[in-house]
Amino acid sequence: MAIRIINIIFVGSFANEELMNTTEKIPGHIAIIMDGNGRWARERGLERCEGHKQGVSALRNIIRSAAQYKGLRYMTLYVFSTENWGRPKEEVDMLMELLCRSIVNELHELKQEHIRVLVIGDRNGMSQTVTEHIDLIEKETASGNALTMLLCINYSSRAELTHAMQTLAARVAAGEINPDEIDADTITSALYTSGIPDPDLIIRTGGEQRLSNFLLWQGAYSELYFTQTYWPDFGPADLDAAIKEYAHRNRRFGKVCDDKE
Ligand code: IPE
Ligand code: IPE
Ligand code: MG
Repeated sequence: MAIRIINIIFVGSFANEELMNTTEKIPGHIAIIMDGNGRWARERGLERCEGHKQGVSALRNIIRSAAQYKGLRYMTLYVFSTENWGRPKEEVDMLMELLCRSIVNELHELKQEHIRVLVIGDRNGMSQTVTEHIDLIEKETASGNALTMLLCINYSSRAELTHAMQTLAARVAAGEINPDEIDADTITSALYTSGIPDPDLIIRTGGEQRLSNFLLWQGAYSELYFTQTYWPDFGPADLDAAIKEYAHRNRRFGKVCDDKE
């Protein structure tokens, strides 16, 4: 029995290191819909806010773990959707407060680990305190070159696309571009994610199998991975399992299967 346990531990950690040290089949960009905080708390008889607090701890561990994978350059995290404003005011206020507190608490370590933080979403809807914290973390981590972390706050894909259409329409009206010059690349560069490669893998925790207005344009050819695990319970081993599953997917992009795969 003891030998079997040692074996499992050894094989497990070996597989992990093997993946961490190769760039082959490692997704360069992982996006995560971090869902299930409320249900995690409810199942423990706790307030929803306890689930969100535990969710921040989970995020800290995942970012630390993600930074170990050679080849993984971008992590996009769905933090707060435009639809989430419809939640009870106490929950929204608590989430915004938690966001600001987490920025202050994590800033030092993020800088030490050379992690660059970018925030995408509509800043008009945010309080001045929140935008000040966002500006601070973006400015302080701007030179980070290890991993880029994109936080989606007051984000929805339809709002992002609407904003992109308005930008392009204004450029047409100003005579800067002709309507027939608008192609997929022009639209891509008018999105909040301009300059960031599309996600290779989108993970959703918490058991729901939907995108909830997340990266609808950018995720056109992303691999999707759904897990029942609630976000506060999602740890490095779960991330590793998702990356391993991704490594076995055959991405065809509409073309025919490559026999060499
Ligand atoms: C995700 O967890 C966090 C946010 C949307 C802010 P939820 O709060 O949606 O948790 P569930 O889905 O209610 O369990
Ligand atoms: C998606 O989760 C948004 C975030 C994780 C920030 P929701 O809990 O808001 O999505 P629905 O309501 O289940 O679609
Ligand atoms: Mg949810």
